[in-house]
Amino acid sequence: MIVTDGVSEYLAGLRPEPDPVLAEMEAHAQRDGIPVVVAQTGRLLYVLALATRARRVLEVGSAIGVSTLYLARALGSDGAVVSFEIDEQRHAAARRYLERAGVADRVELRLQDAREGLTALEGNFDMAFIDGIKGQYAEYFELLLPRLAPGAVLAVDNVLMSGTVAENSSDGHWSEEQIAGARAFNQRLLTHEGLTGTILPVGDGVLVAVRK
Ligand SMILES: C[S@@+](CC[C@H](N)C(=O)[O-])C[C@H]1O[C@@H](n2cnc3c(N)ncnc32)[C@H](O)[C@@H]1O
Repeated sequence: MIVTDGVSEYLAGLRPEPDPVLAEMEAHAQRDGIPVVVAQTGRLLYVLALATRARRVLEVGSAIGVSTLYLARALGSDGAVVSFEIDEQRHAAARRYLERAGVADRVELRLQDAREGLTALEGNFDMAFIDGIKGQYAEYFELLLPRLAPGAVLAVDNVLMSGTVAENSSDGHWSEEQIAGARAFNQRLLTHEGLTGTILPVGDGVLVAVRK
């Protein structure tokens, strides 16, 4: 969608074989139509968390735990991913999968609206990943920004919405309103005085920024 089919197939072919738990989670997401990160985005999160030696990571939108698993695997046993999800069934499934994957000791799954949870958070985080409802991205961002330590990395998924954000035209799935919201959000973050960022055409578009 964002890159050519040939590039997309090539990149997918380079993917290391997923372990059985991750493969099961992906099959679950596919079967039930749950939107989760594609493998390249998951790998990008993993690399970013490793590169920054992240210890405390914040996530908005755990769903069934696919992106949470990539993040948790990059942390040592003293690390923690605090992840918010509002859907009870998805939250429960994430808990089961992450236990089976052996990372439950470093994951704090919270069944709570992130907009409430982020307000009550204390302490600093080394990395954050925004992947909740697209229309709420600006709210998540404003609430989590004060929790990012200098040098912390922020990643945001779906910032290109199948390419519609660049084309500035609806494809029937993403509405004109959602596209306008995404364009304003991208502009705000990339010109924000407290961040240095860029957008990568990975998956559905990932904005990556460092907290100054
Ligand atoms: C795109 S999915 C997350 C996928 C997950 N990050 C992954 O890649 O494996 C978005 C999730 O955010 C959840 N969500 C939506 N609004 C939320 C909110 N205000 N607080 C917490 N979670 C929310 C939805 O229920 C949904 O499961």
